[in-house]
Amino acid sequence: MRNIEYRYGNNLGLDDVIDLYRKSTLGERRPIDDKEIVSDMIKHANLIVSAWDQDLLVGISRTLTDFSFVGYLSDLAVRASHQRMGIGIAMIRKTREKMGPRSMLVLLAAPDAQEYYPGVGFSPHNSAWVLKAGDPFETVNKLRANAKR
Ligand SMILES: CC(C)(COP(=O)(O)OP(=O)(O)OC[C@H]1O[C@@H](n2cnc3c(N)ncnc32)[C@H](O)[C@@H]1OP(=O)(O)O)[C@@H](O)C(=O)NCCC(=O)NCCS
Repeated sequence: MRNIEYRYGNNLGLDDVIDLYRKSTLGERRPIDDKEIVSDMIKHANLIVSAWDQDLLVGISRTLTDFSFVGYLSDLAVRASHQRMGIGIAMIRKTREKMGPRSMLVLLAAPDAQEYYPGVGFSPHNSAWVLKAGDPFETVNKLRANAKR
């Protein structure tokens, strides 16, 4: 059994984080080719838990939260070599510990993790809505009217 150390905070090397995203497969759905974005993702998240096997970064949980009511768990990733050892569970537990007893966690599951979240206690929500970057922000009526022109 490996001895995994958990740390709070944003003091993480950019290349280490990109390598972890890649090696966990989450990198396929995150903009890891743009270092500026990844740097902002690390800098501005206000609740990061990282998992370490000696000096190797093996897991990350990246949340944006008000520490009282709600937190958005944007990224949960564990290095493939270290998956299914309880690291994901431990990082979610440590995230909740910091968020306060009345705070909920919200996330969008990656395709490979659809079965993971119900398995660790999350419930589905049928009214999650996403406005993707670049999506037009107009009323549907206005969009239809523009399309007719
Ligand atoms: C999903 C992920 C974060 C889980 O972390 P992990 O450390 O491997 O998972 P844990 O060890 O905490 O697993 C807890 C339980 O969930 C199960 N589990 C793990 N991954 C699972 C998956 N992808 N689907 C279904 N169940 C899964 C484990 O078997 C374990 O159950 P058990 O105790 O009954 O054996 C990790 O596998 C990962 O990084 N995957 C790729 C990136 C990804 O999809 N991230 C999610 C983004 S939303």
